[in-house]
Amino acid sequence: MKITLTITRRKLTEILIGLVSLFFASGVIATILKYLWPSTVKGTANEELKIASVDEVPKGSAKKFMFNGKAAVLLNMPAGFRAFGAVCTHLGCIAYWKPDENIIFCPCHIGKFDPNTGAVLSGPPPSPLPAIDIVAKEGAVYALKWKDPDYVRSISFYAGAA
Ligand code: FES
Repeated sequence: MKITLTITRRKLTEILIGLVSLFFASGVIATILKYLWPSTVKGTANEELKIASVDEVPKGSAKKFMFNGKAAVLLNMPAGFRAFGAVCTHLGCIAYWKPDENIIFCPCHIGKFDPNTGAVLSGPPPSPLPAIDIVAKEGAVYALKWKDPDYVRSISFYAGAA
């Protein structure tokens, strides 16, 4: 049995343009996702997780990381290192360190959090960002566990992370 497949030059050109477009679109989407959700450091429950070397996060700066599958942020404040879950307690957007205002900022509805305590400073978030116990040793900062696992379990956006 012989099967003959005919394809016009126009159809072949459309297919090739479609494949090239798909190739470039997937690269752009992957780059955007990687930027929004860095996966350089991952953690699972109750494991000591190296977040950064001390030199990597100088005073007044921050580093995003993943902890128990959730976005988190390490801050080096004048009083020392702090770490919080960065998933906003309002509707789950990702908050980030905003050094010019000295706040952790959620861009979705202008939620503002205290970078020392995670407390809500203003905006609609109903509760503070959950704190992460950390330790600095041998020139690096490690995440240990959620400071208050019961509180983490009470936040819907952190379900399963405690
Ligand atoms: S989701 Fe963060 S302020 Fe609304």
